[in-house]
Amino acid sequence: MFVCQQCGSEQPKWTGRCPDCGEWNSFVETTVSAPTPSASAVARSAEGTGNRPTPISQVQNEHFRRVTIPGNEFNRVLGGGIVLGSLVLIGGDPGIGKSTLLLQVSAELALWGDKPVLYVSGEESPQQIKLRASRLDLNPDRLLLLSETDLEAVVAQVEALQPGLVIIDSIQTVFLPDLTSAAGSVSQVRECTSRLTRIAKTRNIPMFLVGHVTKEGAIAGPRVLEHMVDVVLYLEGDRFHQYRLLRGVKNRFGSTNEVGVFEMGNEGMVEVGNPSAAFLAERSSDSPGASVAVTLEGTRPILVEVQALTSETSFGNPRRTANGIDLNRLLLLTAVLSKRVGLGLGNQDIYVNVVGGLKITEPAIDLAVATAIVSSYREIQVDPEVALIGEIGLSGELRSVGQLDRRLNEAAKLGFTRAIYPHTGRKLALPQGMKGRSVATVQEAIEDALVK
Ligand SMILES: Nc1ncnc2c1ncn2[C@@H]1O[C@H](COP(=O)(O)OP(=O)(O)OP(=O)(O)O)[C@@H](O)[C@H]1O
Ligand SMILES: [Mg+2]
Ligand SMILES: [Zn+2]
Repeated sequence: MFVCQQCGSEQPKWTGRCPDCGEWNSFVETTVSAPTPSASAVARSAEGTGNRPTPISQVQNEHFRRVTIPGNEFNRVLGGGIVLGSLVLIGGDPGIGKSTLLLQVSAELALWGDKPVLYVSGEESPQQIKLRASRLDLNPDRLLLLSETDLEAVVAQVEALQPGLVIIDSIQTVFLPDLTSAAGSVSQVRECTSRLTRIAKTRNIPMFLVGHVTKEGAIAGPRVLEHMVDVVLYLEGDRFHQYRLLRGVKNRFGSTNEVGVFEMGNEGMVEVGNPSAAFLAERSSDSPGASVAVTLEGTRPILVEVQALTSETSFGNPRRTANGIDLNRLLLLTAVLSKRVGLGLGNQDIYVNVVGGLKITEPAIDLAVATAIVSSYREIQVDPEVALIGEIGLSGELRSVGQLDRRLNEAAKLGFTRAIYPHTGRKLALPQGMKGRSVATVQEAIEDALVK
């Protein structure tokens, strides 16, 4: 069989381009043996003793048992702690801090829990891990390191130790010797994960799997990997900035709306209790081209500073550079500003940056971006006391955004006294000390936001 390494599609003969996902040159020859029904399943169906359908009213209510580690952020993203027997996949760019975060989590659990924690690394030697642990000042006795890539050997150790938590760093480096394909291939990743799932569920041991990501930022290996595990987390952030976001994209035991914010430093990943304050810490409010947006990361409002710079194009086509927002979004906002606000941006280079390395996909940041651009173009400062919220439509109208109350509360908490936001259909309860203004168009909003 030929298996696509991108999507797991199986073809009887080699093909240059995958008919399912369109990837070029992704097929690898794999030997498959015909599946035989397992002996126990045959026996059970013969005896008629398999699982029977049960009325939902008679199914026992069972609470998932969770273990929590000290601190809030990690537990919160998981929905309130690590569920026993769950499989958690954690992905992220190289060097973003996956191993660091998991080493800290294992050390905490080894320190506070009553069972050993097994950290299996197929990428680093115990000495390398020790080096990191010493830097982070972690060395509990119950934290056991194992440098191993043969999954059967890992499973044997897990059976013998019955640890309270197992880390596999990474799922792409372990392999089952019975399969002919190379470690990291689709079939290896799939089989290794299902082997680990079985032991996690039967022994009630939670497991964290580190997953490498592809160029496009998805977890490498077949999409099925994400289906097989209970929780999928991504560790995101800009490598050149210290902030990291741990974001849930799938969670069978909790909401995926939660985001944990960490700061990567010499002591490892440190929780950021008040992200808005951290992102606004270096704000210089007296120069034109900077504004503050209230965005929503999951259910959590976060204030970020948006900076824009416009400068006359010296030759050729004007440049547009977006850092932290989508470039297409910037082009759209530029077009709206030219056409609806009458700004002559046709001969201006425009640079936009979201301070702190955050990537904002939420359109509620639009108004802050547009205002920052106008502020830089006209060289008029944005009122430092004002927080901006709103999506901008093609006709220059300000469109409503979700969870306005929460955003306003967060802005008020950080000392903002004014907010500009789209019309809402209902009466808003403004937080104490805050003056709100709801506007219909981007033009109105900008005139109000700039210092007179
Ligand atoms: N001495 C140090 N002081 C501060 N930060 C450090 C130090 N050494 C390493 N780091 C940080 O740790 C990061 C590497 O973290 P880590 O190994 O946990 O990442 P990872 O996501 O596991 O990477 P990989 O995908 O390569 O396994 C480096 O990119 C660097 O930012
Ligand atoms: Mg690593
Ligand atoms: Zn494919």
